[in-house]
Amino acid sequence: MTPTPITTTLDAEQQRIAGKALQGTVVDLIDLSLFAKQAHWNVIGPHFLAVHPALDELATVARKFTDEAAERATAIGVSPDGRAATVAADAGTTGFAEGWTSDGEVVETIAANLAAAIARLRASIESTEKADPVTQDLLIGITARLEQLHWMWQAQSTQPSAQRTRLGQLLVG
Ligand SMILES: [Fe+2]
Repeated sequence: MTPTPITTTLDAEQQRIAGKALQGTVVDLIDLSLFAKQAHWNVIGPHFLAVHPALDELATVARKFTDEAAERATAIGVSPDGRAATVAADAGTTGFAEGWTSDGEVVETIAANLAAAIARLRASIESTEKADPVTQDLLIGITARLEQLHWMWQAQSTQPSAQRTRLGQLLVG
């Protein structure tokens, strides 16, 4: 690996903690953006006209934040890794089914994936509090927007939340 050409005032441990938090955010957001497009193309059902554009909004948000998290990593001398193989190995998201997908299933699956990404972000907010408050500030902003989207996707659901939690667990397992 090429030695880093970018220096930072963070010490090695602060850099490691913030870099790990940002890298986790990058892979989760890339996966979210890919699921959003997969769903955008494959959604079918009576709510197509509402769900189809909402998925493009999610893809746009995820891509914007991917860039912000990756470029925060570079700013503290950490090389971000957004390669497909790295995303496949390290993303903490819950997956998305192959093929045509009903609007109801899309809503449940997107909400579960957002919840997974938010859970890792919340843990990263904790871990970066002392190590690098500037990174933490970025992660808080990303989390606020993803939680807003999580609300909106849950609000479209016709399933009660307990049932949705079980579905999320099934997707994880
Ligand atoms: Fe489109």
